[in-house]
Amino acid sequence: MCFSLIEQFSTQFFKYSMMTKFLALIPAAGSGSRMGNELPKQYLPLDNHPMIYHAINTLWHNPLITQIIVVLAPDDTVWFKYDWSHFSKKLIILNCGGVTRAESVLNGLLTAKQQLNLVNSHDWILVHDAARPCLSMLQLENLINGLAEDEVGGLLAIPVADTLKLGNAKHRIMQTQPRENLWQAQTPQMFRYDLLVKALNNAANVNITDDASAIEALGLHPKLVPSDARNLKVTYPHDLALAELILQQRSDL
Ligand code: CTP
Ligand code: MG
Repeated sequence: MCFSLIEQFSTQFFKYSMMTKFLALIPAAGSGSRMGNELPKQYLPLDNHPMIYHAINTLWHNPLITQIIVVLAPDDTVWFKYDWSHFSKKLIILNCGGVTRAESVLNGLLTAKQQLNLVNSHDWILVHDAARPCLSMLQLENLINGLAEDEVGGLLAIPVADTLKLGNAKHRIMQTQPRENLWQAQTPQMFRYDLLVKALNNAANVNITDDASAIEALGLHPKLVPSDARNLKVTYPHDLALAELILQQRSDL
């Protein structure tokens, strides 16, 4: 049983690693304005670590991911107050964050290839928000296994469970929206380097909040890989307590 699992893993590892590399990129240049704390939210304490530690740790434990690129704001003074040596050379820090998330991702991608020669055109990039600390090893594996042979790439997402209302400016319901086929996008979002750079360049003047939107703007259809609500994004103060509970109950790391 154990042997066959190892065999299955090595076959997968060999198959994927022969074709392409998997790199993670974490945009972490935001200020966390909705959190309302002076400290950018990626550094807020969560289960005995700054929040961003948890996303890095999960990505670091996946053996297919060869490099984790963290994109910080150019004026970030907080990162270096912590000891990250545990993650060693697999972790790359770039101080080239932009004004928007999309700009931070694009700057990080361009720097990683043009200045550091870390990545090839066909490598897979897994873009993951620093603000999603509860990503599990299984969700990450499902994403990679679900997309590694895909033409376009895709993202973790969950089918919408609540009834959806379209409201007006006075908070009066105008319509109930059918929720069939509606999904909530999460991260990581996984696309090949050259396609992602092309998409983000193309969407440079459009207000997008995730990478898949830029790919969609090229007329492509990213794949939705089912995830679950535990991979929440920490946006408001009350999200922190929930994230802490999820992290304390996880048993995969
Ligand atoms: N991000 C980034 N560069 C920006 C804005 C956001 O790298 N200019 C990153 C954030 O650090 C976060 C991710 O994108 O890891 C998702 O963004 P979000 O949750 O919106 O974080 P913030 O933009 O920091 O929060 P807010 O929108 O409340 O200000
Ligand atoms: Mg934001």
